[in-house]
Amino acid sequence: MQIEDAKKKEGKEVSIAAWIHRKRESGGIVFAVIRDQTGIIQVAVKKDKVDSKSWKAATDTTVESSVKVSGSVKKDERAPTGYELEVTKFQNVNIAEPYPITEYQSTELLLDKRHLWLRSIKMINVMRARAYVFRYAREFFDKRGFYEVTPPIITTAGGETGANMFSLNYFGEKAYLTESSQLYAEVMEFALGFIYSFVPSFRAENSRTPKHLAEYWHLEPEMPYYDNEDAMKLEEKLVSSIANKLAEKHADILRELKVDPQSLLKVKPPFERITYEKAIEILNEHGMKKKWGDDFGVEDEKALTEDKEKPIFVHSWPREIKPFYMPINEKDTRTVASADMLAPHGHGEIIGSGEREWRLDKLLERMHEVEQSRGVKFNMKNYEWWLDLRKYGSIPHTGFGMGMERLIKWLLNLDHIRDAIPFPRMSNRLYP
Ligand code: 4AD
Ligand code: MG
Repeated sequence: MQIEDAKKKEGKEVSIAAWIHRKRESGGIVFAVIRDQTGIIQVAVKKDKVDSKSWKAATDTTVESSVKVSGSVKKDERAPTGYELEVTKFQNVNIAEPYPITEYQSTELLLDKRHLWLRSIKMINVMRARAYVFRYAREFFDKRGFYEVTPPIITTAGGETGANMFSLNYFGEKAYLTESSQLYAEVMEFALGFIYSFVPSFRAENSRTPKHLAEYWHLEPEMPYYDNEDAMKLEEKLVSSIANKLAEKHADILRELKVDPQSLLKVKPPFERITYEKAIEILNEHGMKKKWGDDFGVEDEKALTEDKEKPIFVHSWPREIKPFYMPINEKDTRTVASADMLAPHGHGEIIGSGEREWRLDKLLERMHEVEQSRGVKFNMKNYEWWLDLRKYGSIPHTGFGMGMERLIKWLLNLDHIRDAIPFPRMSNRLYP
């Protein structure tokens, strides 16, 4: 039986398979807290209430040993979880070696022992919440009739700036790990309509910030005949729906992580929309000395969102800092039709979104402009297949990319993005 179910069986005899979370012995009693996938419960093994085999097993057991225990469930105010199991039988399945993680440990040690640290109550709660965030994200799109599609991970063409891609030797040819599945998602859109791709993206950015991973999970939908405003409406619904479901269904997990579920219930459309130009003005009022064409760093994002309760959109970005596929705004040709969603309280950009230039001539012009102004060179052979979309029944369309770990970092108010993923990949971390 699982621990959460056992708590509903007061006065009854139950058997539980679990791990030892904590253990202490005093005056003929072994007290332990045991853990399984559903929670924790205190167990008490009394020398005079069990046979000698069970008593020996209980005294021999160690932190993180796997055990099977039987006993009767009692309500007990003093126990950490409000219940205690009075043990009648105790058995070790595997006695753990001395556990390398004790109460106060450095961040580095916890990362080296990540495979064990994932059993901590904090990480268990984060990983449960992560599974729910993934579930509710998929549910949002599935319910609206989007198809999930699967792009390749090994690619030849950059889908974003192309500047930060991990390269690999592909049978003697140079290939890359995908930095965004957008270009393949667009292909699938022209076949299936509303779609989303949900696979990792890889960024070889050597930036050691609390919001950069080298491998992150990237949710990338594409919407035929949507414009930038349509996409923003969808994005605010998506993010609100995930935040609200988490608060409504998993308040217990949030409270354990010291997140007030009420704060996530307040996340409802519409989100505030400001232009990039307005954002620059606000930053200058904060004394940040920003000029047209500057991108935003951690401090800028913080200044823009510190006092917000909901995410905000910054839209209409300068053409010189956004990717080659974004079309120029006709009303303000200094800008492209794009929007970033910034999470509140300085958690930073969680969504990057933009219309896709769908007219072949304009797209080629824009690629040329990017080559000229940024000193990059597109290997057009690698883009031919994608440019074909603009030759065979092209349509206006818009899409976006949401970084799941960025979203989770904000929702759970984590200090660092590495704790939003089980095995973080960062410039200084590849083990375990
Ligand atoms: O803004 P980005 O670079 O946009 C794209 O890749 C588009 N092609 C997406 C699309 O339209 N289909 O990345 C999108 C999101 C960011 O807003 C951020 O949430 C996340 O991906 N992201 C990262 N997350 C963790 N670590 C990194 N190094 C990230 N870089 C981007
Ligand atoms: Mg971006």
